[in-house]
Amino acid sequence: PHKPLVDRFGRVHTSLRVSVTDRCNIRCFYCMPLENVQFKPRAELLTFEEIARVVEVAARRGVRKLRLTGGEPLVRSHLPELIEMLTRISGIEEVALTTNGILLTDQAEALKAAGLTRINVSMDALSEEMFQQITRRSGVDRVLSGISAAQKAGFSAIRLNAVAIRNLTEGEVVPLARFARDNDLHLRFIEFMPLDADKAWNTEQVLSGSDLREMISREVAPLEAITPEDVSQPATDFAYADGRQRVGFINSVTQPFCAACNRLRMTAEGQFRNCLFATDEWDARAILRGGGSDADLSRLLDACVEAKRASHGMDSPEFVPPARAMYQIGG
Ligand code: GTP
Ligand code: 5AD
Ligand code: SF4
Repeated sequence: PHKPLVDRFGRVHTSLRVSVTDRCNIRCFYCMPLENVQFKPRAELLTFEEIARVVEVAARRGVRKLRLTGGEPLVRSHLPELIEMLTRISGIEEVALTTNGILLTDQAEALKAAGLTRINVSMDALSEEMFQQITRRSGVDRVLSGISAAQKAGFSAIRLNAVAIRNLTEGEVVPLARFARDNDLHLRFIEFMPLDADKAWNTEQVLSGSDLREMISREVAPLEAITPEDVSQPATDFAYADGRQRVGFINSVTQPFCAACNRLRMTAEGQFRNCLFATDEWDARAILRGGGSDADLSRLLDACVEAKRASHGMDSPEFVPPARAMYQIGG
């Protein structure tokens, strides 16, 4: 009986990315400033009950998939309790998580028990030196141990996300590809997008998916194009010709997937965005804390979807990067 969330371009929104905190235990330069990070006071973050109420409304409007993000979602206390609440909401088919992996060793089992369906781990480098250059913290070994803890806890089809940066991470590409193949992980390289807090992004730093693919097929193993499983997935996947694993490329800069976008996002303070690169936000928290109704929340979703632009417009001369950096938007 409820109307789906269809925008002016006919895109149906079935996926919601929920940021649960803007805090993080590392400091990736493409996402956060090094110093003087302004985290939101805890009282401004939505409570689990508030998040669940928004998700109930979104599920009635056709949202089927949730992805919890941050900051680093695992620094939010008692996250498994939220996951349990969300998996019980009628209509929700998948509750996934995108994490930097640092805290997975301790939490993997509880996450599995809570009903989390899938985990994507962000890891841009295997060498400790490069890991530190990017994250400005130490501990690639903690991420590696987190990944194996997640596999032991029973998570399968774990994806590894690696942001690629020209003149910086070229040396990591082949080792990451081999590591993923050897450890049954679906690796995806991500083009560096203008979402850094320092506004230092420029096109010269974008290491394109097509360059990466060429490097991998030359130095790791030949790659073959495959038909996408899901048309709205951000990655273009290739299979290794020997059949052992796939590798994907999220070419958000050189080949945007906006035309197939089915995503909405909500920041940790309950602000809805229709795009990573949106300039406007819709305030669900004001409704939640101001005695608003579910119908008010549902109307907010309509307004947010209705205003969605055709694409991020990164290649237009008028493009302005969003005022908020990735850790504040939620990845
Ligand atoms: P699954 O397909 O469910 O595995 O997840 P996902 O790829 O949608 O989510 P994940 O959090 O792993 O995101 C992978 C990368 O895609 C992130 O690094 C983002 O940079 C990029 N990404 C996610 N959502 C968007 C989006 O709405 N627009 C653009 N341009 N990039 C996005
Ligand atoms: N460009 C591309 N990807 C980014 N991520 C964070 N900031 C950027 C950026 N500026 C990635 C993280 C993680 C995902 C949620 O977003 O590495 O994999
Ligand atoms: Fe933390 Fe993720 Fe941002 Fe890196 S990309 S600083 S892991 S929130």
